[in-house]
Amino acid sequence: MTSLHEHDVLIIGSGAAGLSLALHLPTDVRVALITKGELNQGSTYWAQGGMAAVLDNKDTVDSHVEDTLAAGAGLCKREAVEFTVRNSRRCVEWLVSQGVDFDLRNDRQDTRSKEFHLTQEGGHSHRRIIHSADRTGRAISEVLTERAIAATNIEIFTHRTAVDLVIGEQACQGAYILDQTTDRVDLFQARAVVLATGGASKAYLYTSNPDGASGDGIAMAWRAGCRVANLEFNQFHPTCLYHPQAKSFLITEAIRGEGGKLLLPDGTRFMERFDARGELAPRDVVARAIDHEMKRLGADCVFLDISHKPREFLENHFPTVMSRCLEFGIDISAQPIPVVPAAHYTCGGIVVDNHSQTDIGALYAVGEASSTGLHGANRMASNSLLECIVYAEAAARHIAAALPRAAPPAPPAPWDESQVTDSDEDVVISHNWDELRRFMWDYVGIVRTNKRLQRAQHRVALLQREIAEYYGNYKVSNDLLELRNLAMVAELMIRCAIERKESRGLHYTLDYPKLLEEALDTVLTPVNSPL
Ligand code: FAD
Ligand code: SIN
Repeated sequence: MTSLHEHDVLIIGSGAAGLSLALHLPTDVRVALITKGELNQGSTYWAQGGMAAVLDNKDTVDSHVEDTLAAGAGLCKREAVEFTVRNSRRCVEWLVSQGVDFDLRNDRQDTRSKEFHLTQEGGHSHRRIIHSADRTGRAISEVLTERAIAATNIEIFTHRTAVDLVIGEQACQGAYILDQTTDRVDLFQARAVVLATGGASKAYLYTSNPDGASGDGIAMAWRAGCRVANLEFNQFHPTCLYHPQAKSFLITEAIRGEGGKLLLPDGTRFMERFDARGELAPRDVVARAIDHEMKRLGADCVFLDISHKPREFLENHFPTVMSRCLEFGIDISAQPIPVVPAAHYTCGGIVVDNHSQTDIGALYAVGEASSTGLHGANRMASNSLLECIVYAEAAARHIAAALPRAAPPAPPAPWDESQVTDSDEDVVISHNWDELRRFMWDYVGIVRTNKRLQRAQHRVALLQREIAEYYGNYKVSNDLLELRNLAMVAELMIRCAIERKESRGLHYTLDYPKLLEEALDTVLTPVNSPL
C-alpha cells in the first residue's frame, strides 16, 4: 500500500545545498528532507580543497568575479557571478555560526587568532580558499547534518529514492519516492519542491564522485518539462589517485596551490609548455595537458610531487590525502603521487533564476544539479560549495515568501504497479551501467570529435530503448532508477556536445578547435516545457 506524506516543502538531497536550504527556512515551515542513502553520502562529504570567498583584506570582490569569468571562458552570467561572490563572506559567517570549524592562520590549535588560513587553487589570482584541512566537505556536512537532525520542523527520510515529480495544473506538487527498505513507492506532497540531488559525473567510467552522482534531479526535471543547459561542460579533475585499488580518490588541487608540481614519468615538468600559469592554470587546461601527455607517451599516469614540503606541513594541511596514499604504500612526503584526470563536476544542469526557480511553478533546483550561470564553460575550483550555500539561502527566502500564496496540492494519482513484476534479470542493469560509463569515457571525454559523439548518441539511444522496456515491465529499484536517469542525462550531455560547434572551456573537439566570437549557452527545451 502506498502511503501519503504531506509537508510544506519537500527537499530531495542532503548535500550542502539541500541541508543549508532546509536550515534557512523559517522554523514554522514543515520540511521533508529525503536522501538516497545516509545523510552524508553525496559529493559534499568528500570535498577536500575548500570554499572560495573574499576574506583577505588584499583580495576584492572584483578580483574573484574576474577570475571566475576568465575560468568560465566567456560563458558565465556576470549577474550570477557577482551575486555569488558578493554573498561569499556572509555565507562563511553563516557556516561559522552553525559551528563549522575552518582552519585558522599559523596554528590550527590557536583559537585566539580569528584570521582564517586561506589556500590557493587553479584560476584564482589570490589565496581565497577557506578550508578545514583537506576535509572541508566533511566538516560542513557533519555540522549541517547535526543541525538538521536537531531541527524540530525538519523530518528526515533516509534510503529513499525520488522516482519522478508530480506536476499539477500550474505547479509541482510533490514526488513519488521509493522506500528502499520496503520496496514501496510512496507519495510525498508539498507546496514547494526542491531538487538538491547533485551532479552526474557517474556517467563516466572514471570519476571522483561517490556512487549516487547519477544526475537523478536533472533527469526528473527534464521529464517534468524543465529546460537544461550547458551539459557538454562536464569537468574533469586533473588529479585523481592512480592505483588499481583506489576507487574514486581525489588528490586536492590545494596541493598544487601549495607548490605541488606535475611531472612526467621521467621526472620532467610539463605544464609550462601548455600555460604560463603552470600547475595553477584552470582545470580544463591542466586536465587536457595531462591527457595530451599521457596519450603522447602512452603513459598510464603522470605524477604530482609535493615532497619538498616538510612532513609536518603535509600532515597538518593534507591529512586525508596523506593517510589514504599511505594505505597504498605511497608516502607523499617522500615520493610523487601517481595521478590521472577523472570526471568530477557537472557544470551545466537545470536552468534556474537567481532565486533557484526552475521553469515549473513551485519547483526549485539548487547546488550541482542546477545551472545558475556561475560556472560557464568551466567551474573555477572551490566555487561550487559556495554556490550551494548562496543559492540555497536565496531559494529559502523565495519559498518562505511564496508559501502563503501557494495552493494546496490536488488529490494525487497513486503509484501504479499493477502491470509490473519483480525482476529476475538484474544483470541487465549492471551490464548497461558499465557499457554506458565506458562509451561516455571513450567518446564524450576530454577530447571529442563529431564521429565519437555520433557513436555515443547511437549507443545511448539503444540503451535507453532497452531500459524503457525494462522499466515498463519490472518493479523499480534504486539501481534501475539510477541507470534510467544516467542514460537520460548522458543523452542530454551528448546532445549539448553535438550542438556546440566550437571548442570552449571544458568542451574540446578536434572538428571545431576554434573559439567562436559569440559565447552562447546550449539550452535544451523538452517537448512538454510550460514556456
Ligand atoms: P551532493 O552533495 O552531491 O548531494 C546530493 C544529494 O542528493 C545526496 O544526499 C544524494 O543522496 C541525494 N540524491 C540524489 N539523487 C537522489 C534521489 N533520486 N532521491 C533522493 N536523494 C537523492 N567543491 C568545492 O567547492 N570545493 C571543494 O573542495 C570540492 N572538492 C570536491 C571533492 C570531491 C571528491 C568531489 C566529488 C567534489 C568536490 N567538490 C568541491 C564539488 C562539491 O563537493 C559538489 O559540487 C557539492 O558538494 C554538491 O553539493 P550538492 O548539495 O549539490 O550535492
Ligand atoms: C579539490 O580539492 O581539488 C577540489 C576542489 C573543487 O572541486 O572545487
